[in-house]
Amino acid sequence: MAGTTYDARRGELTAYFDRTAAEAWARLTSDAPVSRIRATVRAGRDAMRANLLAWLPEDLAGTRLLDAGCGTGALAVEAARRGAEVVAVDVSPTLVGLARERLPAMPGRGRVEFRVGDMLDPGLGPFDHVVAMDSLIHYSAADIVRALARLAPRTEGSLLFTVAPRTALLTLMHAAGKLFPKADRAPAIVPVTERALRRRIAAEPMLDGFAVARTHRVNSGFYLSNAVALTRIPSPRTRGEGLAPLVGGEPSGREGEGAAQAGSLPASPPHLRLPPRRADDGVVAALSPQAGRGDQGGRPS
Ligand SMILES: C[S@@+](CC[C@H](N)C(=O)[O-])C[C@H]1O[C@@H](n2cnc3c(N)ncnc32)[C@H](O)[C@@H]1O
Repeated sequence: MAGTTYDARRGELTAYFDRTAAEAWARLTSDAPVSRIRATVRAGRDAMRANLLAWLPEDLAGTRLLDAGCGTGALAVEAARRGAEVVAVDVSPTLVGLARERLPAMPGRGRVEFRVGDMLDPGLGPFDHVVAMDSLIHYSAADIVRALARLAPRTEGSLLFTVAPRTALLTLMHAAGKLFPKADRAPAIVPVTERALRRRIAAEPMLDGFAVARTHRVNSGFYLSNAVALTRIPSPRTRGEGLAPLVGGEPSGREGEGAAQAGSLPASPPHLRLPPRRADDGVVAALSPQAGRGDQGGRPS
């Protein structure tokens, strides 16, 4: 058990995604027409999925990947197309059923096994990469880091996840949301600051072997989400073997509190090396409490 707050929130999310929002979610994740607002969410989610997939090695053949909180399975399918053996798990039987229906034939070695259940179930086995796209955003920072700590010992390479940044507008939307009757509300998204997240990650002994390698914000109308890559720090044996540094020695763009210094970032074993950083990858800005001030934030979920 990850904890009572985690379990309670997971119960609310199961009810929400499996019943209240299942139809809307099925539509949002399809090609069917949606409202202008939801179209911005769909575009943002497409951009976020592309970003997370771009952080994985291009060739995923021979790797095991956990799509943690897979929803209708779009990310799992893309990873399998690149050769990964994907275990895609979600607490919503309805969404997993839909994901199974939507699963296309896989021409290559990749495959997807859909499961109904908790992403932290140790029975899912070990993985090279874990991706949790927008599936931890409803949990508190403490529960997010506890969840990562549970996944870490079973993850060989990277833990990629998203969090909701704390912005003024998101805070306002939260306050406004509390005016609605409880039954009409989606489980709240919990905004997280970079400082709090980094502090908790640094204080979690189970994450000692991992470092925040990069972050990236996607801001598309009513979709606002920050991606974070936690990658395993190589052992001293692999570190001295002339591997390219994780960010290729590029300047991080900004330095200061919370900045990942290019020189201090770990090298990574070849099969785990992340692709070169893009210009819009943010190491500092994306999770900073100041970064989103005045942004168009929040999302209807
Ligand atoms: C916002 S949706 C995102 C779905 C998918 N990752 C995507 O981006 O399309 C969040 C999903 O996480 C699932 N979820 C939340 N907590 C979970 C948990 N503890 N274990 C497994 N799935 C979970 C929900 O059921 C829901 O389908």
